[in-house]
Amino acid sequence: MLRTKIAGIGKYVPENIVTNNDLLKYMDTSDEWIQERTGIKERRYAHRTKETTTTMGIEAAKVAIERAGITPQDIDFIIFATLSPDYYFPGCGVLLQREMKMGEIGALDIRNQCSGFVYGLSIADQFIKTGMYKNILLVGSEKHSFGLDFTTRGRNVTVIFGDGAGAVVLQPTTNENQGILSTHLHSDGADAEVLAMYNPGTHANYWKENLNSFDEAEIGQMFISHDMINNAQIFPNMDGQTVFKKAVVKFPEVIMEALSKNNLSTTDINLLVPHQANLRIAQFVQQKLKLSDDQVFNNIQKYGNTTAASIPIALCEAFELGKVNEGDLICLAAFGSGFTWGSALLRW
Ligand code: UT7
Repeated sequence: MLRTKIAGIGKYVPENIVTNNDLLKYMDTSDEWIQERTGIKERRYAHRTKETTTTMGIEAAKVAIERAGITPQDIDFIIFATLSPDYYFPGCGVLLQREMKMGEIGALDIRNQCSGFVYGLSIADQFIKTGMYKNILLVGSEKHSFGLDFTTRGRNVTVIFGDGAGAVVLQPTTNENQGILSTHLHSDGADAEVLAMYNPGTHANYWKENLNSFDEAEIGQMFISHDMINNAQIFPNMDGQTVFKKAVVKFPEVIMEALSKNNLSTTDINLLVPHQANLRIAQFVQQKLKLSDDQVFNNIQKYGNTTAASIPIALCEAFELGKVNEGDLICLAAFGSGFTWGSALLRW
């Protein structure tokens, strides 16, 4: 039976380090508040004009492709996960295909926010297991810094997010002790507006009772208007406590679902790489599952929350630090906007 293995992994984070204290220039916050509530000490911001979500994805992809021992032209399918694309459309996948001079292969963009990488991994797994593709490039990349409210009004969201990219090359293997064992995907749209960027969009206030944000007189300017810009309705909006409360339930649940599907237990996990949403969430999950410090990898302290990029950046860093070895049982888990969440269990 074919399984899907990670044949190469890479990451890219911009050079520009932005500390918590650097954010004091723009908003009323403090290093103490940010560290206490999120664990974040600093994050990276992409160069304003010389780096995009796609170019960062390309840098991560180059490393993953080189480590897989192949060339960009060997890639036969692209999956690109992001919530901060270069263009509203087309997606980043085709820009990456063009810039990396790949053939006329399929390019799929997915919009699952924080769980984008896990969703992408699951999609890739299906294509590899059926024998359809042999070298899938999966990228998670975000340039959040371009679309955040840098005033005190937006501080609950802005201090959390950072820029960066991670990528993996996925290939088939017949080795039964290697590769993805299972993936588990979930969603619940009941709280879709709890963590969302409403505009620009085509909703035309259809979901108004939840949004309470639109001036009806603006017909004709409903996609994007000066009011939306002036009132910060073009930035991400989050009820952090609601997200937090749901996350600490769904993370353990979806991790246990993956373990029980494979008749494994928490003690079998060599490394859990959770989506880096908030260090407090990761610590809560660790405690709940009774995992040791060695069993969980976090790096949100250095990069903030990089959404679709956070799992591949963390997994890549763990790999580069020698914390991921052949045969290790790795668990990936994510929860975020939608809400969507998921997990993947794999042997390295
Ligand atoms: O990956 C996407 C998924 N997202 C998440 O998983 C995020 C989950 N949620 C969280 O991580 C937390 O809810 C936050 C870190 C976002 C916020 O922490 P909190 O403990 O839930 O704070 P809060 O939103 O309840 O706000 C508490 C206080 C408020 O002041 P008052 O009303 O008590 O006077 C906020 O105005 O903290 C204030 N506040 C801040 N103060 C300083 C909010 N943001 C900041 C800030 N600096 N950056």
